[in-house]
Amino acid sequence: MEVCVVGVGYVGLVTAACFAHIGNTVVGVDDDREKVQRLLQGEVPIYEPFLDQVIAQAVNEGRLTFTEKIEDGVRSCQIIFICVGTPPLEHGEADLSSVETVVQRIAEVAEGHKLIVEKSTVPVQTGFWVDRTLQLYGQKGTAEYDVASNPEFLREGSALEDFLHPDRIVIGVEMIRGTFSCPIHQKCPQAGNVPFLVTNMASAEIIKHASNSFLATKISFINLIAALCEKVGADVSRVAEGMGLDPRIGRAFLNAGIGFGGFCLPKDLQAFVRIGEKHGCDLRLLKEVERINEDQINVFVEKLRERLWIIRGKTIAVLGLSFKPNTDDIRFSPALEVIGKLLKEGATVKAYDPKAMAKAQHVLASVEFCNDPYDALDGADAAAIVTEWDEFKRLDPSRVKQKMRRPLIVDGRNILDPEEMRSLGIEYCGIGR
Ligand SMILES: NC(=O)c1ccc[n+]([C@@H]2O[C@H](COP(=O)([O-])OP(=O)(O)OC[C@H]3O[C@@H](n4cnc5c(N)ncnc54)[C@H](O)[C@@H]3O)[C@@H](O)[C@H]2O)c1
Repeated sequence: MEVCVVGVGYVGLVTAACFAHIGNTVVGVDDDREKVQRLLQGEVPIYEPFLDQVIAQAVNEGRLTFTEKIEDGVRSCQIIFICVGTPPLEHGEADLSSVETVVQRIAEVAEGHKLIVEKSTVPVQTGFWVDRTLQLYGQKGTAEYDVASNPEFLREGSALEDFLHPDRIVIGVEMIRGTFSCPIHQKCPQAGNVPFLVTNMASAEIIKHASNSFLATKISFINLIAALCEKVGADVSRVAEGMGLDPRIGRAFLNAGIGFGGFCLPKDLQAFVRIGEKHGCDLRLLKEVERINEDQINVFVEKLRERLWIIRGKTIAVLGLSFKPNTDDIRFSPALEVIGKLLKEGATVKAYDPKAMAKAQHVLASVEFCNDPYDALDGADAAAIVTEWDEFKRLDPSRVKQKMRRPLIVDGRNILDPEEMRSLGIEYCGIGR
């Protein structure tokens, strides 16, 4: 198949690379000239495990190309995946202006039959507007369109694995005129057992927002329980373990900590609340989920304050800048908020992250970026663990103790063993334990 992917960011680049990897011919389109130039020069602008290798192979084998010109992709391909960003506007609703721009351009240049697939996370009823825009701006008589929704569930950090071995594939359609089948199902033998759910457009659009809102709810729920655990001498990690053994609950996403960030959960939760309001439905449970999550940053900074007494003038090593491990993505990362608060209070911040330093340097002034975790810990009055990178799980406690001015660790991801730390003379504070 010839597939066009518009918007080659975290989702689009993985989509383009994986579709090419399984044998399709793919054109990746992006209006960011610098990004396209870097890709054409063989540089991968984001960090995602194995992505560089998969792209290099597909490009070398002539199955993956990149362009700024949407017309090149649209004219040569029958299937067009829209993967542009849908960032939050001021009040949390999704900004769909990039989606509209792309759809208008497709309508202007398309000829023949095209299947337009929305993969970006969009509010319910976007499919209706995509279809309408194609009809309104299309060249009369020269093109015919089908519109489908195919929400993406990949997780940054394991995006290729998730894309090629998904736990479900959801397709939303009103009516398909041509004959199409799912490329993943066709090409990946393992995908044979993957549930393939076909719904109408509205249901597919809701599935994505509802899924992310549910995951966010699990995280805020366990953070609420963590607060109670601290008051009564319980350990939230053990509580989560006990709860998670019930298959109706499950252990995933019951990790107490500094809260969720990234380009999906916070914005999708907000957008879903706004969608509810627009349709006269008060999704009040989700408003509370959001409030609890925002509070976690204060809870974390408060833990530092309780132990440091005065934050002004203290040196704090922040370990982790990306919103989760195995990615360089710092969008809506809790680390940025924590650092902002610490700097505002007059702390000196030394930061280290295995992959996100380059991106963080663009947005964080007044932070000392360090070469490794021990460099960040050198002379620090406290260490704040914000991202659960494996590298931080393997820190050598005796080196940590020797490097720090005061061996105090506030562990926002509960990745270290409290007993071990304390037995080695390190003051340790986690969340809910
Ligand atoms: N990041 C994730 O983990 C994830 C997972 C599932 C779904 N999603 C959803 O997928 C969508 C994309 O997310 P992302 O993280 O890849 O965002 P991103 O910002 O990394 O990528 C978006 C890309 O679209 C390009 N773009 C914007 N307007 C364009 C236009 N008019 N023409 C061509 N290209 C254009 C941008 O230059 C950028 O490269 C969002 O709706 C997001 O909610 C993201």
